[in-house]
Amino acid sequence: MHPDPSPAELIAARPQFSLHAMDGLLLEGVPLNAIADALGTPCWVYAAGVMRARYRALAAALDGLARIHYAVKANDHLAVLRLFSALGAGADVVSGGELARARRAGMAAGDVIFSGVGKTVAELREALAAGIGQINVESAEELAMVSAVADAMGREAPVALRVNPDIDAGTHPKITTGLRGNKFGIPFDDIPALYAHAARLPGLRTVGLAVHIGSQITEAGPYRAALDRIAGLVRALRAAGERVTRVDCGGGLGIAYRHETALAPALLAGVLRASLGGLDLDLVVEPGRWLVGPAGVLLASVVLVKNAAPRPFVVLDAAMNDLLRPALYDAWHGIVPISAAAARAAPMPVDVVGPVCESGDSFATNRPLPPLVPGSRVAILEAGAYGAVMSSTYNARPLAAEVMIDGAQWAVIRPRQTRDELWRGEVVPPFAEASG
Ligand code: LLP
Repeated sequence: MHPDPSPAELIAARPQFSLHAMDGLLLEGVPLNAIADALGTPCWVYAAGVMRARYRALAAALDGLARIHYAVKANDHLAVLRLFSALGAGADVVSGGELARARRAGMAAGDVIFSGVGKTVAELREALAAGIGQINVESAEELAMVSAVADAMGREAPVALRVNPDIDAGTHPKITTGLRGNKFGIPFDDIPALYAHAARLPGLRTVGLAVHIGSQITEAGPYRAALDRIAGLVRALRAAGERVTRVDCGGGLGIAYRHETALAPALLAGVLRASLGGLDLDLVVEPGRWLVGPAGVLLASVVLVKNAAPRPFVVLDAAMNDLLRPALYDAWHGIVPISAAAARAAPMPVDVVGPVCESGDSFATNRPLPPLVPGSRVAILEAGAYGAVMSSTYNARPLAAEVMIDGAQWAVIRPRQTRDELWRGEVVPPFAEASG
């Protein structure tokens, strides 16, 4: 078991950060202290330059082999969607709300792929009326639904069948999706018959196949195994006379949180080329985390340090309602002090927790950190993906502010939620006041 990387090692491995003697930790060109001074904590900060650089690196590695459809669920802020749309990305959405966000950010519905196991009739109608680019169908039942909705609207729905390839992506059980027991996709063996059936249903134009085997995948092997299976299916379907023009290869590219090696875009491109390159297909990838995770931090302040055995608790003003990943998946996120002096001091092991009334409200256990005192600020790393989007107001904690940095400039992209906003929309009916 490797020891945890120290704050200095974490910063050294991430070129988007630098440590200045006076200003402390900088993300791109902006001292994080300046943002915390202006807005308070907790606060999310996303670096536009990092997102753009990552998009461009992935696009360059793919070199026209596949189109990038950003998985909106990873970070659905309009500014983030706008940024990727300006770079030429399409979107992958899993709800009517995400579709509305993508369109609100300026994306054409034709550049959007709609995935998910439970699209409602209302959502399907909305997507078809907007001219959705593709609907990834996850079951025979859903295929019938899409057909009925499209037919009633006099439309032709472009559909891909999502294959469950029964491949173990080797990730956390809560984020694996391509195993037989998962709720996602259509069993591999059922695809040929359903593909043929789809051609006979009204209102459908079957364009191809989709697959997504899980998230935070750090090895090429599972992709290779899944996409080789898909290639076999494409050949079999074509041999049976079906038209297959598109394959959506899903997302899932992993990043380095702790000791993992992030999946290099060149490796993914190599697998796509080797498995599907010769088949004259329009290919799509749907990354979320890889594009935005490393671009974001969650800034927090130490409320107090509680002396306890076996280790002190460092209690932050951020909590599981802000960043849920450690509580939900035991996820490891780097935590670094923002002050240069603190970042360099000798570390000692502590437990880092939030103030929410749950034992699960913990960011790190037995983590070596330099001495922290009330008011010390820390940055929780790799918080750009599945961070703010998974926040709640549990314990009546307002949603944290969000900031976007670009080079040396920064802008508030969502102010901290106010107390009034916490209960906006709540109605107290007269009978609630009656004593019974
Ligand atoms: N496409 C589909 C159909 C998906 O279900 C997902 C993620 C993606 C693309 C994007 O996957 P990514 O490239 O971001 O790995 N909340 C969890 C992750 C859940 C991912 C769900 N599906 C976490 O914080 O780790």
